[in-house]
Amino acid sequence: MKVLLTGGAGFIGQHVLRELQARGHDVRVLDSLRADVHASPNWSAPPGVEIQVADVRDSTAIDRALRGVQSVLHLAAKVGLGVDVDDLPDYASSNDAGTAVLLAGMARAGVSRLTLASSMVVYGEGVGRCPEHGAVTPGPRKERALAAGQFEPPCPVCGRPLATALVGESAPLDPRNAYASSKVAQEFYCNNWARATGGSVAAMRYHNVYGPGMPRNTPYAGVAAIFTSALRRGEAPRVFEDGGQRRDFVHVRDVATATVAACEQHVSGVRAFNVGSGTPRTVGEMANQLALALRGPAPVVTGQYRLGDVRHITADSSRLRDELAWRPSVDFSAGMAELALA
Ligand code: UD1
Repeated sequence: MKVLLTGGAGFIGQHVLRELQARGHDVRVLDSLRADVHASPNWSAPPGVEIQVADVRDSTAIDRALRGVQSVLHLAAKVGLGVDVDDLPDYASSNDAGTAVLLAGMARAGVSRLTLASSMVVYGEGVGRCPEHGAVTPGPRKERALAAGQFEPPCPVCGRPLATALVGESAPLDPRNAYASSKVAQEFYCNNWARATGGSVAAMRYHNVYGPGMPRNTPYAGVAAIFTSALRRGEAPRVFEDGGQRRDFVHVRDVATATVAACEQHVSGVRAFNVGSGTPRTVGEMANQLALALRGPAPVVTGQYRLGDVRHITADSSRLRDELAWRPSVDFSAGMAELALA
């Protein structure tokens, strides 16, 4: 199938590109190679892949990129958290205006299949279980509580501690930072487009993706890359809060197979898929694993916090397994060792 892959020069995009090629697809990449996202502006496409260097907000470039295409995988985005309010316009423009331009172009070109890179951050704090009130949605954590070292979000009804639950795709959306808001908006724009045109959308809600090629030393680097860089400099990883925050670290090659499975198999309607390994870990545990692999200093738990961070976010990825027959293949300790030694 002829596919357009936006963001194909990015961290996840390059792995998706490899998987698309391995599955015999004819791939055109559209990527802006913008300097704040790409460590090297000199990326060149592998043999057999056509690259168009342009921004998704450029509708003339989009029209050109969509020629002859049957399906689009939209990964081009500004990632990270959004450090302050000054970041809002760029997230809204790069991610949301960019998606809107792409969707309008797809409607003009009659391209009806879309796979969107979304994120687990759309769920905010996710779902917690209160001994008295059952499944509840915790509100944003208060800065006062974080400063006092109270990191666990309490039950919004009675204030008691919550046990964590896995978040399914029907959990309410509750974005807590600029990036998360831009991902929710992207999903909604895609849904509007699907209703209006009869197109299909698979929204891939990626969990914490790690693996070879992870961006390092940029404000948008994920925690696994930050810890690896510190250990390589001989420094201890600095673990925020108390290190007990849980995430599901999913290997980028598994994310690529999930994304391509959705592109191939999801052909009608709008469907969200959580993409996680299924085994949540704490950030402290991950820091220890990397320190072991690199024989570096033990992690330091700093008690620092970032206001936009959620405490725990752990996916229930069973829909992806049940409906698209996807299975993750990279084990956590093997994947972390590979990242450490890459
Ligand atoms: C990450 C991704 C986001 C994606 C989401 C999906 C990045 C930068 N963010 O968000 O794009 O949508 O997963 O679930 O890749 N931490 C430390 N020390 C540090 C830096 C961070 O302890 O030096 C902690 C943070 O406080 C947080 C956790 O590590 O609790 C994860 O942080 P981060 O890697 O930035 O990712 P998420 O916010 O989970």
